Amino acid sequence: MMKLPEDFLNRMQTLLKDEYEIFLQSITNEEPTRGLRINTRKIKVEDFLNSFDTSLKQVPFDENFYFIPHHWLLGNHPYFHGGAMYLQEPSAALPALSVEVKEDFKVLDLCAAPGGKTSQILSKLNSGFLIANEINFNRAKVLAGNIERLGYQNAIVTNNKPEDFLKDYKNFFDLVIVDAPCSGEGMFRKDEEAIKNWNITNVLSCAIRQNDILKVAAQLVKQKGQIVYSTCTYAIEENEEVVKNFLREHPDFKLVEVRDEVKQNTSPAIDLEYARRVWPHKNIGEGHFIAVMENTLETAVHYGYKYPRSKISSSVIKELKEELGQVIVDINYHNIYLLKDNFHLIPFSLPPIDNLKVMLAGVKVGSFNKYRRFMIDHQLSHAFSISNYKNVINYSLEDSEVSDYLAGYEIITSQIINKEYALISVNGVALGFGKNVNGTIKNYYPKGLRNLVKKFEKY
Ligand SMILES: C[S@@+](CC[C@H](N)C(=O)[O-])C[C@H]1O[C@@H](n2cnc3c(N)ncnc32)[C@H](O)[C@@H]1O
Repeated sequence: MMKLPEDFLNRMQTLLKDEYEIFLQSITNEEPTRGLRINTRKIKVEDFLNSFDTSLKQVPFDENFYFIPHHWLLGNHPYFHGGAMYLQEPSAALPALSVEVKEDFKVLDLCAAPGGKTSQILSKLNSGFLIANEINFNRAKVLAGNIERLGYQNAIVTNNKPEDFLKDYKNFFDLVIVDAPCSGEGMFRKDEEAIKNWNITNVLSCAIRQNDILKVAAQLVKQKGQIVYSTCTYAIEENEEVVKNFLREHPDFKLVEVRDEVKQNTSPAIDLEYARRVWPHKNIGEGHFIAVMENTLETAVHYGYKYPRSKISSSVIKELKEELGQVIVDINYHNIYLLKDNFHLIPFSLPPIDNLKVMLAGVKVGSFNKYRRFMIDHQLSHAFSISNYKNVINYSLEDSEVSDYLAGYEIITSQIINKEYALISVNGVALGFGKNVNGTIKNYYPKGLRNLVKKFEKY
């Protein structure tokens, strides 16, 4: 049985009073909840379940979300590689479901890695975009990898401090997500590290950091724009008190109700109307706190900004059309930008990025090497639905070519391929490109993503 810090238990007893025993029972004896979200841009829910597991139980607040047993390891599964699923603790999905997200929204996720909330919001955007920021470089790389894998076109991933956004983005965003770094008490059931790192000093220093991040967020959100503040901890100092302090310091903001489905699956916060908590002994999932604050300031400025497009000559566009035309049916070449020698497809109005450390912008489609050979980028293989690609070699989950491909091996195919590049897919879920040399497909699956064990297991 896990050993929980004495100070933590005493604090919880004071907070929960009569409910303390049942709470303790729940976090010490029950299994943590785990789930997977099906990426319906890649595969229909019924096709996913039919080829994966029809017995999975749906999470009540999201039709694409299913519970999975806590011991399942899915990181090697081809559907994972293909971005057809995202693994997420179900209640961690609630903050992003708390607000209405319109398809043209400009969104900033200030603490975004590994990308759970970011990917939920990206799935709702069309002409809008989301900047997914992560302060920690290694975590930002994971975040960028997840967005690439899931195939979203409307994201920019940055590796900045929150205050770096103040230069160009004051009163700019419709929505700012602050899923703050916290003491992680709500994760104790699934994360031993969170237990080891817990102490009261850390709780209090997290609260200071959360206040600081929210102060920045307040300046970035436009009139009627909203901030979603969430944590995965129980400590009042990091939750209700942070929000109360924020409202005291920002009288132009008000707390607003969360959407109904989130309200129905959460509990009231402690003496703070509209804010919500997730308790493991009362709700589904691990411990969370959610509050939505809206900017009511009438005079807030909202910039209309257009990033100056770098000029790409018509002869280069012609070359790109020749190269990319072999691979993909149709893309809008007006949306191609040249950023640091790489061509990016950016299907939204690019905001100012010169003062940010950008790790991903839209879809990197490729670049010319020093011999003027076009090098196609892996991200292009994930960004569109399969019907947009020209040479698709499709396999089923049982075919050995799938694990061969993911392990980095060549594939021999008898399918007729006229073009240089082929897209390898499994049940219509794209995995990546290969280069066709007389029926032998040279493997273009990036080395860092390969499944070297050359097998995949669900359990
Ligand atoms: C709870 S996690 C975010 C989880 C993510 N929103 C998701 O849904 O997948 C908090 C993140 O905040 C980052 N962080 C740490 N210190 C920070 C700071 N001072 N400002 C902004 N983010 C910070 C951490 O590196 C961590 O990735």
